[in-house]
Amino acid sequence: MKNSIFINKKIKSYNKKITVSSDKSISIRWALIASQAIGKSKASNLLISEDVLSTLNCLKKLGIKMNLNKKKQTCEIFGNGINGFNYKKNITLNANNSGTLARLICGLLVKAKNKIKIIGDKSLSRRDFSRVIQPLNKFGVNFYPRFKKNLPLSIQGTDFLRPIQFQEKKGSAQVKSLLIFAAMNTPGTTIIRAKKSRDHTENFLKYLKTPIKTIKKRSHDIIEISETKSINPIDYKIPGDISSAAFFIVLTVLSKNSKLLIKNVLTNPTRTGIIKILKKMGAKIILKNKRLYKGEEISDIFIKSSKSLKSINCPENYNASAIDEFLIIFLVAAKAKGYSYFKNLSELNKKESPRLEMATKILKMMGVKIYRNKDSIKILGNPRLSLNKTYKIKNFYNDHRVFMMSVIAGLCFGGKWKIHNKNSIKTSFPEFLNLTKLLGAKYN
Ligand code: S3P
Repeated sequence: MKNSIFINKKIKSYNKKITVSSDKSISIRWALIASQAIGKSKASNLLISEDVLSTLNCLKKLGIKMNLNKKKQTCEIFGNGINGFNYKKNITLNANNSGTLARLICGLLVKAKNKIKIIGDKSLSRRDFSRVIQPLNKFGVNFYPRFKKNLPLSIQGTDFLRPIQFQEKKGSAQVKSLLIFAAMNTPGTTIIRAKKSRDHTENFLKYLKTPIKTIKKRSHDIIEISETKSINPIDYKIPGDISSAAFFIVLTVLSKNSKLLIKNVLTNPTRTGIIKILKKMGAKIILKNKRLYKGEEISDIFIKSSKSLKSINCPENYNASAIDEFLIIFLVAAKAKGYSYFKNLSELNKKESPRLEMATKILKMMGVKIYRNKDSIKILGNPRLSLNKTYKIKNFYNDHRVFMMSVIAGLCFGGKWKIHNKNSIKTSFPEFLNLTKLLGAKYN
């Protein structure tokens, strides 16, 4: 089947209302937490994407029963309580492309008596796992082969877990979350001092009234987690993913005379860095109909095209809350007047692809003046940016967000684009291309 798309027309103006695919972080967390509850949990509007299906498959291998209806996007999970897994010797869990799954699930396997092998695809196998191994070693958990820092790896837990005190300095929600899961299984109280990052795991557990407490400081949180005896089942209607909405926010900001309302998006402040950054650059974005759902903020997002955009010296404290959105934020900077600066983004090169490198390559190809210095980037925007050459995007480690960024660039700035690996969107946002078509995009 054809796996490339061709763009040779900018998108025309539109005025529409859409919803985007459901939140990936919440879908994965719901499944993992439901597997630890006692009894039946139900999800509706679950994201049916490869990362979530990999999560469900891993849980099935661990003996968790479930009913999934892909068409209706519903799932029931029958949990057997904390560490209530039931599995054969020598099992292998395949996380495919999902760093969130591969890392978070380790926190639930800290009592595994037999070794469990964890594998992933090419992209995941090159990503850093020492951030998982190092703190879990402190709990008493081992990984094999010793001294290896990426997948495939085998994890072996212990019945003699020790609570730890740990400083999470990267602003990684994945690391924070896996430590919370490990701490739930561990006698005593574990204390994590974590640089601010998305707090969905904490929100789930607080809603479920498990023994977890957060003391919020300016740049970090102190999270205290005590051994958790039981978790109640949780029903959840998953809202839209801001990281998917982000592509349509930028499409609208950069297009002419367009308006868009994206309904029902998770707008937890630890995820809305893109909105804060784009507003500082002069974008017209309004959060409407804000409400609270099971500890999470949800809103409708209204966006209008921007006639003029300002450059930004992006405050570093926005980095974690926009971590998955920088690729498309860079596209906005390419059209904003003057120099924009983004600093200390080493984590960006540790994603599904080295994204700082990929962004630099693509923007350079587009003729944008972009300068990279290790973990920082400087972009000289051109308010009249308009493309007319041919651009081929391939060899991007199958990174879904690089694919979507390239499509948005083609639709907003023109030129002829051939973009490979459209199947990459299946990991997080299978509806992406259909939604762009709904707004008027045409592909050959
Ligand atoms: C995620 C956390 C982020 C993010 C990823 C999803 C999560 O990764 O990039 O897409 O659901 O916890 P890090 O925690 O490694 O920054």
